[in-house]
Amino acid sequence: MTSAVVALGQTTAAATRLESGDVLLQQPGFFRVGPAEQELFTPSVLSRGKNVSFDPATGQVGGSALSGDLAAALRGMLARFSDEAHAFVARTCPEYGAHLVRGRTSFRPVEIAGRASSWRKDDTRLHIDAFPATPVQGRRILRVFANVNPHGRPRAWRIGDSFDEVGRHFAPRLKMPMPGAGPVLSLVLSALRITKTPRSPYDALMLQLHDRMKEDTAYQQTAPQTACEFPAGSAWMVFTDAVSHAAMAGQYQLEQTFLLPVEAMGAPDKSPLRILERLMGRPLI
Ligand code: SIN
Ligand code: FE
Repeated sequence: MTSAVVALGQTTAAATRLESGDVLLQQPGFFRVGPAEQELFTPSVLSRGKNVSFDPATGQVGGSALSGDLAAALRGMLARFSDEAHAFVARTCPEYGAHLVRGRTSFRPVEIAGRASSWRKDDTRLHIDAFPATPVQGRRILRVFANVNPHGRPRAWRIGDSFDEVGRHFAPRLKMPMPGAGPVLSLVLSALRITKTPRSPYDALMLQLHDRMKEDTAYQQTAPQTACEFPAGSAWMVFTDAVSHAAMAGQYQLEQTFLLPVEAMGAPDKSPLRILERLMGRPLI
């Protein structure tokens, strides 16, 4: 079964819907771009890569080519979005409240359609999110997206199979990290600063799953999937570690990542950690 896009306001059980793999949509009004921020809407804000990143803990901006007043306006927009996204999740899912850990914020000013990319980085292919550099140690990845396109253009996604189905389909192709080698490799990666904290077997398997999905052209075409469009001005939240998704077209988006311990879920059994542990027949953290 594929996920549904559910309008907030039509559900009182937001966390239950999210944990079941739905996408919760907030119609226009959640986040507004200010007049001084209009000038930030050009891909030339980037110094490299496809996103500007922001660390709400330190206030540091990465990947921006701006200086002076424009740099301050960009930092201000990212900080405001991060705070509003946090308030939005806390309000919508009060049960997660104190357990939410705020991760990175990003601004994505590049048109997705036609963007050149390696298959691994190609987000127009269905995938679940897994972080190569920042292992999550089993925690959930909850993301808030806002389509801030100033020209009224939607952001177009495909939404694919549930994590249960994805896990069952790809589990035979996943390789457990070597016992013993796992901890050693993870310490080496962490010492070399390739990862910021040690990579757990769960993180290793989620990265494999991300890659096996994206590289499988037949799966991309034949897996159950639904096209959906998020209107300019709208915002949505979704557990992107479990909901198979692909971003097909659109330009200018803000995104805030949150990490949530599995134990803080209403239904921990629905987490990718517990589903993969059942499929692999062993603990993964
Ligand atoms: C992704 O997380 O795959 C990209 C989502 C987006 O930029 O719309
Ligand atoms: Fe993604």
